[in-house]
Amino acid sequence: MNELARARPAEDDDPPAGSGSSAGAPVALRNVALRYGDPETGTLALKDTELAIEAGEFVAIVGPSGCGKSTLMKLVSGLNPATEGVVSVAGEIVTRPIKIVGMAFQNPTMLPWRRTIDNVLLPLKIVRPYRENFRRDRERNTARAEALLRRVGLHGFSRQFPWQLSGGMLQRASLCRALIHEPSLLLLDEPFGALDAFTREELWGVLQSLWMDRRPTVLLVTHDLREAVYLADRVVVMSARPGRIIFDRRVDLPRPRALDDLFRDTAVQLIHDLRARIEHFQLDETVGEAPGP
Ligand SMILES: Nc1ncnc2c1ncn2[C@@H]1O[C@H](COP(=O)(O)OP(=O)(O)O)[C@@H](O)[C@H]1O
Ligand SMILES: [Mg+2]
Repeated sequence: MNELARARPAEDDDPPAGSGSSAGAPVALRNVALRYGDPETGTLALKDTELAIEAGEFVAIVGPSGCGKSTLMKLVSGLNPATEGVVSVAGEIVTRPIKIVGMAFQNPTMLPWRRTIDNVLLPLKIVRPYRENFRRDRERNTARAEALLRRVGLHGFSRQFPWQLSGGMLQRASLCRALIHEPSLLLLDEPFGALDAFTREELWGVLQSLWMDRRPTVLLVTHDLREAVYLADRVVVMSARPGRIIFDRRVDLPRPRALDDLFRDTAVQLIHDLRARIEHFQLDETVGEAPGP
């Protein structure tokens, strides 16, 4: 794994990896385990997890509920340290929360007392090195935030407060907030999970187009195999807890993709294969399970 061979621990005075570049950051997990709580008896969320993601690659992660998908995202972002193994991003071993990342979750948390545009600008106000120049660059930042809001269909809503927006609009704003500092890594944990099917499908198109602009590396957790196939270059399937990668498939569909592409043979076959793989493993896990007390 080349990324790991090159990886070294981050130093305090290092510039944030990937800053100023439009390229995505490579990500690697090597033999990673994570146990929550007690070192002996705590929940083993991930075990023997191996994953290498190329710079600019879009990877979707699917797997049963509770298998460790969100845990994997927290490991990559540096929010949780690995109990075993090594995680590296942009050639640096992750030892603390990383700065080059943009994140969006199923339930976007916005500051209710700030207008939508100010919520979108928040990462620039908080994260080094942007915050030093936040006032100086205010005009340019605001123009960028407005342009992003327009891209996601929120033109004219920047002065609204979050509580004046629908769930779909909040998720659009949350995507803008994740992208405002042009991160080289984007972590999306079921971002469209709470939305209705039409909004979700529309946002697939929006996300694809935003990704194609700058090609950050993306990890997308989803339960929706169609979403995974529409958006990703690769789909990886995780086993039930303790989670590890059990299946890894490339999505050979040209870009930009359209909803109609999901009805083509390649996509239908791939969705079918992924579903079979997940069902097969769920069955295995059930059969292999020790009888309860
Ligand atoms: N902070 C925590 N403390 C203890 N156990 C946790 C914590 N977070 C998650 N878990 C447990 O770890 C396992 C994996 O959780 P998670 O990564 O959230 O799964 P997923 O996102 O795939 O649904 C689950 O069994 C969950 O209950
Ligand atoms: Mg989760």
